[in-house]
Amino acid sequence: MIYFDNGATTYPKPPAVVRAVCSAVTRLGANPGRSGHRMSLRAAETLFSCRQEVAALFGLQEPERVVFTQNCTAALNTVIHGVLKQGDHVVISSLEHNAVVRPLEAMKRRGVDYSVAEVVEGDDEQTIRHFREKFRANTRLVICTHASNVFGIRLPVERIAALCHLNGILFCLDAAQSAGVVPIDLRNSGMDFLCTAGHKGLYGPMGTGVLIINSATTPDSLIQGGTGSFSAEKAQPEVLPDKYESGTPNVAGIAGLREGVRFVRQRGAAGIEQYEMQLARRLYNRLSRIERVLLYTQPPSLGTHVPVVSFNIEGMDSEEVARLLDERFGIAVRAGLHCAPLAHQTMGTNTLGTVRAVVSVFNNAAQVDQLTGAVNKIVKLNEKKVAIDSGSVLK
Ligand code: ALA
Repeated sequence: MIYFDNGATTYPKPPAVVRAVCSAVTRLGANPGRSGHRMSLRAAETLFSCRQEVAALFGLQEPERVVFTQNCTAALNTVIHGVLKQGDHVVISSLEHNAVVRPLEAMKRRGVDYSVAEVVEGDDEQTIRHFREKFRANTRLVICTHASNVFGIRLPVERIAALCHLNGILFCLDAAQSAGVVPIDLRNSGMDFLCTAGHKGLYGPMGTGVLIINSATTPDSLIQGGTGSFSAEKAQPEVLPDKYESGTPNVAGIAGLREGVRFVRQRGAAGIEQYEMQLARRLYNRLSRIERVLLYTQPPSLGTHVPVVSFNIEGMDSEEVARLLDERFGIAVRAGLHCAPLAHQTMGTNTLGTVRAVVSVFNNAAQVDQLTGAVNKIVKLNEKKVAIDSGSVLK
């Protein structure tokens, strides 16, 4: 199989990740932070060193500010439910995922309101102005995707975060599609929270996510329970990361994530970005030469996009195109709304959805060419089918 569904989760994982997961299950099978025996201590050390790797990747001084979650959605929910109170207002971008929109819709019942700032591709000034225009006296939080999971469009998040900082508004970055794919430095960034998946550009296993608290404001914890620390106290510890990590952690997943982050650090996010963007550009250029292929963004470029390309074939359902790519050509992509109906609404694709191909470091130019060759064949097959159906050629 040729895998271009890296926006949902990257595949394959680096061999060191696979080895670390297997080794953790077989040799690190004790509960970390709970017991004093050596295997439990080794498990705890693995968790801590993963925090150190993640902190180093994002320019963070204090590894204890790295909180492990189940996924990016869980991290975003911690910020949304843990920070916002009745009467608060939130601003989000018009490219947000349901991981942001749905918790905010739920928060409406608790008296929290939100506004959507329109993103204008290729015009950061306008995008920033739209954010500024949505600010109110009670705006407490801005949540902004670093890059659309559907269209790959990057937002000027550094400038939006700085604007928030100036206005005393908390800023939360959804880095689900950008962490490990483009360099991110939290130092002096004005970014209070970073939420990301561990299993996408960080190459960890599914079931891993990260919340970074780069702020003096700490969200309330959504769950409370045993942390292996301060056990005599009835109240949930306030200390980080324990405050958010009640219950037995995903040691094997985090052991894998550590190797995934090491892999990214060894290659360097800037080098990964260069490589993947070159492939995304090739994909876009080749698709743009195929008649009946619809593209929705400007050509993907360094600094303005991440390597995510959405398209459609005129007259065909996006799910049908994805099915044909899989069944006839052995190519995996994702189609439909990608859990981001707001982004589709913004780009005018909410009735059609799109076919989405996302590049990882394990893709290459030959695979891109196979994908575009397959799309070309599907276009031709469909033209023939339409002609037969309309009776313009003999059956
Ligand atoms: N949010 C992930 C995606 O875009 C799962 O596919």
